[in-house]
Amino acid sequence: MSKKPRVSRRVGSVAPSATLAIDAKAKALKAAGEDVIGYGAGEPDFPTPGVIVEAAAKACLDGANHHYTPTAGLQRLRVAIAEKTLRDSHLSVRPSQVLVTNGGKHAIANAFATLLDPGDEVLVPSPYWTTYPEVIALCGGVPVVVPTDASSGFKAGPEDLERYATDKTKMLLFVSPSNPTGAVYSREQIRALGQLALERGWWVLTDEIYEHLVYGKNEQHSIPVVVEGLSERCVVVNGVSKTYAMTGWRVGWMIGPEDVIDAATNLQSQETSNVDNVAQCAALAALESDPSLFEEMRKIFDRRRKKIHERLNAIPGVSCVEPEGAFYAFPSLSGVLGKNLHGRCARNTLELAEIVLDEVKVAFVPGEAFGAPGYGRFSYALSDEDLEEGMERLAELFSKARD
Ligand SMILES: Cc1ncc(COP(=O)(O)O)c(C=O)c1O
Repeated sequence: MSKKPRVSRRVGSVAPSATLAIDAKAKALKAAGEDVIGYGAGEPDFPTPGVIVEAAAKACLDGANHHYTPTAGLQRLRVAIAEKTLRDSHLSVRPSQVLVTNGGKHAIANAFATLLDPGDEVLVPSPYWTTYPEVIALCGGVPVVVPTDASSGFKAGPEDLERYATDKTKMLLFVSPSNPTGAVYSREQIRALGQLALERGWWVLTDEIYEHLVYGKNEQHSIPVVVEGLSERCVVVNGVSKTYAMTGWRVGWMIGPEDVIDAATNLQSQETSNVDNVAQCAALAALESDPSLFEEMRKIFDRRRKKIHERLNAIPGVSCVEPEGAFYAFPSLSGVLGKNLHGRCARNTLELAEIVLDEVKVAFVPGEAFGAPGYGRFSYALSDEDLEEGMERLAELFSKARD
């Protein structure tokens, strides 16, 4: 009998997505008739706008769209992405620098697979989106976690990166607005990080999937625009999922230097070929649509953001930095750890998430999933009524916490 493991060590060591797991558990409870309030979702709760759906329906009826497209994507979509990138980010790129991928997640996986050799280290500021370290490791790289906390608004400075950099550092993972913290870096903060990357010769992967979801005085800036010269060693990841409520359509893209895009296209040609032709037509319609389409959604998120921030801070044992972007609040829940909650006691936020789901049917993602024990991620991509109701239940449970 072979002693070889049935599943490869490489794939066997991938941690399941904790965010999808909690969402699935909450949905299963809901399907079983339980009155669950889910703060776990990583996707807008709006339907995809009608004009986009109509364009897709039309594309579906046209036999010309029933076939493969070039691996890198429909040429007119690559052109539209280049134009959109100039319009929104002021980054000038050629369509040949664009690879259309199966969502932003696939762009991230393609980028790391294309750039990392075994042992290459990637600086990953924490709290981090749960996918990054897993994909880096899967590609043979080493994720090097750079901790940040609420005192800096969960933002890493150059001195933090310097502390964790070695001569094996090849890349910096940068995301703003951030999942899970909602942090948005200022232009000056971005310049400091980008300048360091440039000086050290690091590559930067910048994940801009939440670019349009910024609130108040905060502004989105693209790191290769802020730091001149960085675009030679920079991959920009983006997509239609969050901006246009199109998570299920699976269209994202990566933008980078031509040699990197050519290599990633080659990889994708052997792995997944092109992205669904009709979905590409839908993405094209999204990019050609009036920006008022997503502005409406942004305003609704902004209203909920203020509400959840205020409500969370009013709950005993909870304290929350004001989220600046995306659609997540990331409060510290350490004030209720070790306390008696309905006769149960959570030693960490993993246990707390279970107790909260069992006792008051509220789902959130424990900070452990993002390398930040003691915190929880609350998505505010849910209705205003549910948002209120969930906060009330949490307040009720936590206000009865006893030593
Ligand atoms: C920070 C970040 N990047 C990328 C993605 C991937 O988006 P997509 O659904 O387009 O794969 C997500 C989705 O949750 C995300 O939060």
